[in-house]
Amino acid sequence: MRFEKKEYLDELFEFLKIPSISADPNYKNDVKKAAEWIAEKLLDAGCEKVKIENTKGHPIVYGENFISKELPTILVYGHYDVQPPDPIDLWENPPFEPVIKNTKIHPDGAIFARGSCDDKGQLYMHVKAFQILKSSNKLKCNVKFLFEGEEEVGSENLESYVNKFKEKLKSDIIIISDTGIGSLEKPKITIGLRGLSYMEISVLGPNRDLHSGLYGGSVANPINVLNKIIASLHDKENKITIPGFYKDVIELSKKERERIIFSELDEKNFRKSLDIKSTDGELKYNTEERRSIRPTLDVNGIWGGYMGEGSKTVIASTAHAKISMRLVPNQKWKKISSLFKKHIEKVSPKHVKIKVKTHHGGEPYLMPINNSGYLAAEKAYKESFGIKPKPKRDGGSIPIVPMFEKILGSKTVLMGFGFDSDAIHSPNEHFGVKNFYRGIETIILFYDNFSK
Ligand code: BES
Ligand code: MN
Ligand code: MN
Repeated sequence: MRFEKKEYLDELFEFLKIPSISADPNYKNDVKKAAEWIAEKLLDAGCEKVKIENTKGHPIVYGENFISKELPTILVYGHYDVQPPDPIDLWENPPFEPVIKNTKIHPDGAIFARGSCDDKGQLYMHVKAFQILKSSNKLKCNVKFLFEGEEEVGSENLESYVNKFKEKLKSDIIIISDTGIGSLEKPKITIGLRGLSYMEISVLGPNRDLHSGLYGGSVANPINVLNKIIASLHDKENKITIPGFYKDVIELSKKERERIIFSELDEKNFRKSLDIKSTDGELKYNTEERRSIRPTLDVNGIWGGYMGEGSKTVIASTAHAKISMRLVPNQKWKKISSLFKKHIEKVSPKHVKIKVKTHHGGEPYLMPINNSGYLAAEKAYKESFGIKPKPKRDGGSIPIVPMFEKILGSKTVLMGFGFDSDAIHSPNEHFGVKNFYRGIETIILFYDNFSK
């Protein structure tokens, strides 16, 4: 097939070798290198104007290929930063030395490297799709590219950039490949993303670590207190106990819920793939609902006290936890963060001090299936996969998507090609070679359909 060029993979490998870890200041220079690399490739692809915009954090790469005012404009967004690779010992191959290996679900091979699926591999499909269209004189729309290096840490500087350059960034539709497709046999297009509110709690006890024999039992132990608070955040039905938490949640009708079925077979595979005996979550909802249309609260990290080798008898002076809440329409992340803070402060006992910090957040997102962009994507998937794709609500978050809608007034089509099992954010992240080529093909078809 004309999109299956080995050189595309070689180029992607170069990109994947740059450890553009946005969260770790030690890699700031590598993030910059990745920005320069992708800017160069955009130019090579024939994009007329390409600019690297420096921010307080990592750079933004902007590209523009204007043809005519009469033609529609597509804005392509992607992120070239990646998650930290840890825990590093669990990688079968080093995270920044890409290799292709066959797996059961990827019999034609998958590229193993941090960022292969999230999101360098998916971003690069867009550069190649554009290049193919442009070089064959088949480009019939204006294109703008917006690539950022801070998606995995909250897109803070992108928000001010978008606000500042509102006019310049205007488009008829936004397309992003940074989600999943389900499977190649039964493709799905993401029409919903959950919002996010990311918090941190610190429990502060005595002014120093104490001997747990001399003081234990007489002084509140911050770790015990923190655990009690966390345990109280879910009730017996696994509902979140923060007052007002569900107030703005739009409950789906029975009919809408019936479409989100998770069959017995899926449930079995799901459990098997994770090596767990049973699933768990909010009572009266199935697994698929629990991970897409329902809001959640999860501890992402918890620490304090002695964590070294062997044992040490000690009452730690402080304890900490990072907690994220996934939100659904019409919850507002700032409101949820403030409800969380108030609640934690209220339930914490008076014998400790408590600090609640907001990290970052984002709103949930929904795309109507009669949107012209969605319809153009639906047709493109149908042409390239031979079957009409189904819409699907996803559990992850891309806060810039609702932000685009608010600031630019444009809807986003989430044309993802990853599998849930591609291990994004986990050790051994990978992306199917076939998914990569099919992605390029489908994006080209989208351009075609949308420009008509
Ligand atoms: N690409 C993911 C989001 C995603 C993946 C959505 C798969 C749907 C399906 C993105 O890079 C991501 O990881 N987002 C973060 C939020 C961000 C603010 C750190 C997330 O969802 O945890
Ligand atoms: Mn991503
Ligand atoms: Mn991610």
